[in-house]
Amino acid sequence: MTNSPDYRTQARLKLYILPDVTAVATAAARHFRARASSAIAVSGRFSVVLSGGATPKAVYAEIVKDRDLDWTKVHVFWGDERCVPATHSDSNYRLAMDHLLSQVPVPEANIHRIKTELGAKQAAAAYAVELQTFFKLEPGALPRFNLILLGMGGDGHTASLFPGAAALHDIAHLVVSSTAPKLSEERITLTYPVLNAAAWVVVHVCGQGKSAAVKAVLDSAPQFEQLPMQGVRPMQGELVWLIDQDAAAALD
Ligand code: 6PG
Repeated sequence: MTNSPDYRTQARLKLYILPDVTAVATAAARHFRARASSAIAVSGRFSVVLSGGATPKAVYAEIVKDRDLDWTKVHVFWGDERCVPATHSDSNYRLAMDHLLSQVPVPEANIHRIKTELGAKQAAAAYAVELQTFFKLEPGALPRFNLILLGMGGDGHTASLFPGAAALHDIAHLVVSSTAPKLSEERITLTYPVLNAAAWVVVHVCGQGKSAAVKAVLDSAPQFEQLPMQGVRPMQGELVWLIDQDAAAALD
């Protein structure tokens, strides 16, 4: 009987189990709007990190419905990117452009794309400079995003922090290049220090295919090398999980 608390307890996360992907997307969009309204009221701008993969498409469909948001004050970043051209069908940037950013009046200057055309290492370095400039960071300081949206893979990865990757142990950089093991595909990803400096992290996970990973991540003692999502625990921020019933199927 292990007496070390599970990740869910240690990370003080708030878990919401919702009927389906549309409900998860609606809830994620509600968090997006709430965080945006609050940040714009307090600081005059909203810095948000979009996640990659496919789930965000449903989230974007809900976010675009909000016609009251002042998009001139919204600054969009990405948690990770595949090292493909911005026009490639695998591009996280392209997914957001097609399903969200082309449909709202966000200024181009507010879209902080990871410039994959530079190659993985140079793109990571350039993106780190963009963060340092936007947040006016002193050397060694961390950016505090108002909101970071994250998905999770069936292996417990998040952003492009994959099991066993060197990036899991990198606390010296804001952004690093990484490799998706099964795909041997080059990626660029924010590191844990940046994810964990956020004011809010909202995780969205849907589908039966994720149920084993959801159970493993939430109900086991932290072992972030095997289950990278367990390394996400905002130091001074809120952590919210939005999952559908299929993804929750293995939970007690
Ligand atoms: C990526 C992501 C990755 C994604 C998960 C979940 O670029 O693929 O950032 O971490 O969020 O793999 O992806 P789905 O939402 O498609 O299941």
